[in-house]
Amino acid sequence: MTDTNIILTGFMGIGKSTVGKILAKQLGYQFIDTDRLIESRAGRSVAAIFEMLGEPAFRQMETDVARELSEQQGLVIATGGGMLVNPVNQQLLEQRGRIFCLTACEDDIIKRLSSPRAQARRPLLHGRDLRQHVRQLMQERMPVYSRFFQIDTSGIGVKEVAEAILRIIKPDQKADAKPDLE
Ligand code: S3P
Repeated sequence: MTDTNIILTGFMGIGKSTVGKILAKQLGYQFIDTDRLIESRAGRSVAAIFEMLGEPAFRQMETDVARELSEQQGLVIATGGGMLVNPVNQQLLEQRGRIFCLTACEDDIIKRLSSPRAQARRPLLHGRDLRQHVRQLMQERMPVYSRFFQIDTSGIGVKEVAEAILRIIKPDQKADAKPDLE
């Protein structure tokens, strides 16, 4: 493998950013979280972008970021859970990257999204019944997510998830770095 980008997708709260940071450290790659990049460019949070500019504006920002990142190499990119729903974003990021989809069962996802902090950051969850909405959105997204290489995170820690991906992209090399887990 040269410096092919590693792209992580999957449902909200699945651990893309935490796993991505570990992977980036182990590969010596730069870590990019697309939501944080969009927030720093827009000067406001994802929740505020949804509220003030609307979801279509946020989705356009995602495509702008996908185009920009598709021209770079040596990145681990944690995408927002809806980013690759747009096939244009998928095509852009696949030009120089390999996509992995983190999966988990509904109960695990609900657990991870249950805190007020987790929900405050995610405008799609505002003011809705969490379980019902997660179930509906997961069903809608399944055809998209299932197109990508699946990494099941159920019952394993973030370090193990990163190691599972490393074993796939560097099958001859053992993951030996000791990441700092925050
Ligand atoms: C979204 C997921 C969020 C964020 C935005 C929309 C989605 O990112 O991009 O709230 O459509 O699934 P995370 O997957 O990091 O929560």
